[in-house]
Amino acid sequence: MIELKDVSYVRLGTQDLDQAEAFATRALGLQVGDRGKNATHLRSDERAHTLCYYQGNPQEQVVAFEVDKSPSLDAAAATLEALGHHVHVGTPAECDERKVRAFIGFKDPSGNGIELVVGPARSGKRYFASRDAGIRGFSHVGLYSTDPMRDEKFWTEVCNARVSDRIGDVALMRINAIHHTIALAPAAGPGIHHVNHQVQSNDDVLRSFYHLSDQGVPILFGPGRHPTSGARFLYFRGHDGMVFEYSVGVDEIEDEESHRPRQFNYEPSSVCMWGARSVMVKSQ
Ligand SMILES: [Fe+2]
Repeated sequence: MIELKDVSYVRLGTQDLDQAEAFATRALGLQVGDRGKNATHLRSDERAHTLCYYQGNPQEQVVAFEVDKSPSLDAAAATLEALGHHVHVGTPAECDERKVRAFIGFKDPSGNGIELVVGPARSGKRYFASRDAGIRGFSHVGLYSTDPMRDEKFWTEVCNARVSDRIGDVALMRINAIHHTIALAPAAGPGIHHVNHQVQSNDDVLRSFYHLSDQGVPILFGPGRHPTSGARFLYFRGHDGMVFEYSVGVDEIEDEESHRPRQFNYEPSSVCMWGARSVMVKSQ
């Protein structure tokens, strides 16, 4: 069993690093951790980075999860290879780029780029936002899935994810007490469905709704409230079409042993209890 501890970072290829940084700092509200010739690392919390834009193909999208020690990484690599996944062991230079002690890379059953990392760097410096979006940190991802039932089995049987709730066949899965860290979204191909940052308050969600609207950022869904996690949310389209979400008030699963996933129908009221309608479509 591969024990995932937390989501660590997202890496996104882009043809325009300057525009990517402008979006991340002026609209999204992240802080530049460091800026190199070929990559910009952005911060959202106490970590050295949680989002990296690098010079490359925007179709290259990777999500990293932290495991707690190097033997876990070796065991994870053996488990994945036994299941037929090609595993790449990060070189020292690649580890430096990711600000981790060690990592392995592989594709999940849908073809999503996944990295498992040990020792993601913290920063001694306080996260200081480039705009006051109220961000408290990078929190979860939505992953496109070509077969949500198959991918649920991968994340829950090969890895330690647990299903918190389902909407139709689509699982919202946790790897710690937070209601979900991985959400699956049905699609014809792989990719990141959305990148979530938690914000401090409901006011931050609504403030950003007006701020982003004024900036001409396309609002895709919300303000609204998920009946599953209880979170108040706002989804919007960012650089290269990537969807970002702010949310606040996500439930925690307090009793791990007794929690039973709730089943919601695949219908609009299952994703917003206030009546917001999503206009999210896959942009790639
Ligand atoms: Fe989300």
